[in-house]
Amino acid sequence: MTLPLLAEKKRLGDPIVMVTAYDYPSARAAESAGVDLVLVGDSAATTVLGYNATTPVSLDDMLVLARAVRRGLSTPLLIGDLPFGSYEVSDEQAITTAMRMVKEAGCEVVKLEGGGEASVKRARAIVGAGIPVMGHVGLTPQTSTALGGWKAQGRTAGAAERIASEALALQEAGCFALVFEAIPSAVTEELMPHLQIPVIGIGAGPATDGQVLVFHDLLGIRDGLGPRFVKRYANLQQEMNAGVAAYAEDVRTRRYPGPEHTYKINADELADLHARLT
Ligand code: KIV
Repeated sequence: MTLPLLAEKKRLGDPIVMVTAYDYPSARAAESAGVDLVLVGDSAATTVLGYNATTPVSLDDMLVLARAVRRGLSTPLLIGDLPFGSYEVSDEQAITTAMRMVKEAGCEVVKLEGGGEASVKRARAIVGAGIPVMGHVGLTPQTSTALGGWKAQGRTAGAAERIASEALALQEAGCFALVFEAIPSAVTEELMPHLQIPVIGIGAGPATDGQVLVFHDLLGIRDGLGPRFVKRYANLQQEMNAGVAAYAEDVRTRRYPGPEHTYKINADELADLHARLT
């Protein structure tokens, strides 16, 4: 996947498929499904690292995960999410972080959250350094405390207008695409005609150019159902629990290992060993 191909998909109205991945097996699943974009999201903080928010994940954590994803992917465009605290301080910090994502983890592009003045400036700086940037507006989990919690954004005309100006500012700063998260569908429909770059939605309705879901949400590798916008395609947490429970039961009842799981030794060698040990 290339940026011109992505723009072409938007022009043709061909839906863009994006999914998150955090390790080699999730990358292989994305590759085999032929998705267009793979995001090593900072949602890794909650999905694979067990935190209850995205803010604690570090750049070093993200680099480890992104390298594993890189090893599992060849076709989709690989997007590295810039974690909280790794790009807000200065343009220099943002460029340095984006470069590490590209040089050390093999990401092709990066994503940052927010469409306020500082985020737009950082996006422009990173694009200026030659690294394409995906913007992210609406519910931005890194700053969810300031937004009043994990809830839909843009539910008043004023709030929706703010999202519109943030999206337009990110587009003007040179972002190649945007994520719209947790925005009423009708608001998305109003905003779409104003955007020339691809918009990927998560909880933003069907009017966007594509959709993204978190790998663990769509496959049910989590406790609870997750946000309203998630459609679940499997219940892998249940499958994993059942598999490990069956293994534990087999060990306790000595059903595992069976003869088919063991190695053999020649009878003479065994007799020789026995003699040596007695
Ligand atoms: O971190 C993440 O998974 C994301 C997606 C929800 C877009 O930012």
